[in-house]
Amino acid sequence: MSNSKPIRRIAVIGTGVIGASWAAQYLAKGLEVIATDIAPDAEATLQKFVKSAWPALERLGLSPGASLTNLKFTADLAEAVVGVDLVQENGPERLDFKQKLYKQLDELLPPDVIIASSSSGIKMSDIQSGVTSHPERCVIGHPFNPPHLIPLVEVVGGVKTSEAIVQRAIAFYKSIGKKAVRLNKEMPGHVANRLQAALAREVYYLVAEDVVSAADVDDALSWGPGLRWGIMGNMMLNHLAGGTGGIEQALRGLGGPMAAWWKTLGSPEMTPEFQHKLIDRVQAEVGSRTIDELEAERDELLIGLLELRNKRLETATSQKVAAE
Ligand SMILES: NC(=O)c1ccc[n+]([C@@H]2O[C@H](COP(=O)([O-])OP(=O)(O)OC[C@H]3O[C@@H](n4cnc5c(N)ncnc54)[C@H](O)[C@@H]3O)[C@@H](O)[C@H]2O)c1
Repeated sequence: MSNSKPIRRIAVIGTGVIGASWAAQYLAKGLEVIATDIAPDAEATLQKFVKSAWPALERLGLSPGASLTNLKFTADLAEAVVGVDLVQENGPERLDFKQKLYKQLDELLPPDVIIASSSSGIKMSDIQSGVTSHPERCVIGHPFNPPHLIPLVEVVGGVKTSEAIVQRAIAFYKSIGKKAVRLNKEMPGHVANRLQAALAREVYYLVAEDVVSAADVDDALSWGPGLRWGIMGNMMLNHLAGGTGGIEQALRGLGGPMAAWWKTLGSPEMTPEFQHKLIDRVQAEVGSRTIDELEAERDELLIGLLELRNKRLETATSQKVAAE
């Protein structure tokens, strides 16, 4: 199998929330996209989404050749994968669905085509278990919503995935400006969703116990640690929390109290009553604001932060080049 085959044409399978956003991202990077979905209104919905995402992508910088005209749609799976270099699969998050689809794809595709799944939490070992010919080209390429704006892609193979494919997937995502993070082991929920789940457990607990309102817990996150997390992660921030003594100092000072708090963290059951309580609290926070308004607010600030981070990256790169 060739390791150097350039990736120019992508099949996007499933054009719901994630597939439509991936399609916009790939088009903005100058790639050809052939999308497929079984929903009757899928093509129109996809076109509408991609057009609405385009101004933000223009603002962040289109790659040479990027055009909305590079998007094609077919409801026929076999037709969608003809001549593609990579498949980005975004079908429903069900193991039986994915297992069946991967068997079909394996039969349809030449062996050097990568099949990447956006799955949020299903292990590739489970998805590829029934793939007989070339399971080694199946890999998780898990984005964060919305993939056309959020750079993170988690890459992890299953037991039958080859190291070469993991490397090719990482190189490809990096080549289009994504922040590819490699997982050395499969975990349910990968890494970033596990982090979200750990935090959500405590957020839900605190809200359900009426320790804090939904609006205040959201402020506590987005005006506090969340601002820092948009810049650096937990490990590096803990290093800074120790002052000149760094992480060693931080763990000496905070390690004991933090371990004591761990013992008091909530472990709520996801009962219908618990869910109703959370829904009530969030509705009180949302008030009359629509989903569209909230999404527009999120995306505007997100693009501003991405522009700032990209500028910083460019400055750092040009300083490095000048020093060499
Ligand atoms: N929503 C998120 O925040 C998020 C984030 C990262 C990853 N993911 C993952 O991305 C995948 C898709 O999630 P989503 O939120 O976009 O779901 P979704 O329900 O919005 O989209 C799924 C799409 O798949 C289509 N579909 C169903 N059967 C099909 C078939 N046989 N062929 C082609 N298309 C078919 C559906 O019509 C639908 O449009 C899941 O694996 C999910 O875990 C979701």
